[in-house]
Amino acid sequence: MTSSLLLASGAAQALDEAAAVELAKANGCLSCHSAKEKIVGPSYVAVAEKYKDDKDAVPSLVQSIQRGSKGKWGRTPMPAHDTMSQADLKTLAEWVMSTKP
Ligand code: HEC
Repeated sequence: MTSSLLLASGAAQALDEAAAVELAKANGCLSCHSAKEKIVGPSYVAVAEKYKDDKDAVPSLVQSIQRGSKGKWGRTPMPAHDTMSQADLKTLAEWVMSTKP
């Protein structure tokens, strides 16, 4: 029982990673963000850390990415990405939350 649960969660994480990196590249995320360094936007490590105890982190980040965000990290706003599908937004939000320092 336990081992199949572990396998299932491990597989889900491995699956998202490669697809998410492609999505992030294709949508220009990486020109403003990197995993560990602040560029224009916060590093994904910092985002994952900030929301680690927030059980609604993924839906909340989906909204930030889709509609844009301002005032949470500093004075520079993030533009909206309102042509992306919900599935792609969710993949990216989960990937950001899975970033390890
Ligand atoms: C033009 C630069 C730019 C691009 C492109 C960009 N971001 Fe951002 N992003 C920012 C900035 C600036 C912030 C901080 C906004 C704030 O202070 O609320 C941010 C914040 C975020 C946050 C944290 C939101 C929150 O609610 O705290 C996430 C997650 C994020 N970006 C993911 C992405 C993803 C995924 C993409 C690609 C689809 C992307 N960003 C594209 C500049 C950008």
